[in-house]
Amino acid sequence: MTIESIFEFFGVPAVLPRESSVLKGFELAKEISVSEGTPLFYIDNAEETAQSINSLKQTKVLADCMGMTGGPEGNLGHGARHSLRVAVDAGAIVIIESSRMCLTPERAVAILRLVQTAALLHDIRRSAPHHAEAGAEAAKSILKELGLPEDESEIICLSIASHEAFRPYEEPLDPEAALVCDALYDADKFRWGPDNFTETLWLMLEAAGIPVEAAVKSYPEKITGIEAIKKTFRTVTGRKYGPDFIERGVRIGEKVMEGMKKSMGME
Ligand SMILES: [Fe+2]
Ligand SMILES: [Fe+2]
Repeated sequence: MTIESIFEFFGVPAVLPRESSVLKGFELAKEISVSEGTPLFYIDNAEETAQSINSLKQTKVLADCMGMTGGPEGNLGHGARHSLRVAVDAGAIVIIESSRMCLTPERAVAILRLVQTAALLHDIRRSAPHHAEAGAEAAKSILKELGLPEDESEIICLSIASHEAFRPYEEPLDPEAALVCDALYDADKFRWGPDNFTETLWLMLEAAGIPVEAAVKSYPEKITGIEAIKKTFRTVTGRKYGPDFIERGVRIGEKVMEGMKKSMGME
């Protein structure tokens, strides 16, 4: 079972940039990412990833949330495809951590549902200046409308409000709430690895009308922030596999930028 099966299930199409130089970078990145192989997280945790995908397909509240996450290209490259990827990985992290924390199967399933709901809604206000806080506010009304109990909604909103990198963060004292917050954060930051170059970067450039040349020039300074995220993973699982995602992404990024420099005559 792959991530593509979940895109298909929810009717989320593949995205292709329209502008020719952005499309060129996008295609080059796809090609290079294949040669970098699969991140270790999916190799070591294939069963948990499959369970997480199954849960996404079977939970009604999640299907309800899907209608609200914007189109596949919406939200500056943080639309439905990004949210679904975060939901699959956050769910798998919760499954792994729940067994490490010896939670009962009932609690593990409940937390899995909470984190996947949070993942689908976490970037719902991606264009707002403080998108995590704004997203939490928006999620609160949506979850009320969907009839979620207040205590569950509170945990989901807390995790959305605290998913941004390099911001002060105080882990909740309740271990289950902490697991939701930390799993959402880690799964979202896994996206700073290969996904950053195979999808998000190009969709952001196109949405913002930024030329590829400018992205290539600012790459060395951007990469410092990406490297710094390696130290911020919060769960045991995130700390174990997060750096592999990031290092893989940086290797792809470097090769893509070299390739783009050559093709644009920037050397
Ligand atoms: Fe975000
Ligand atoms: Fe995100």
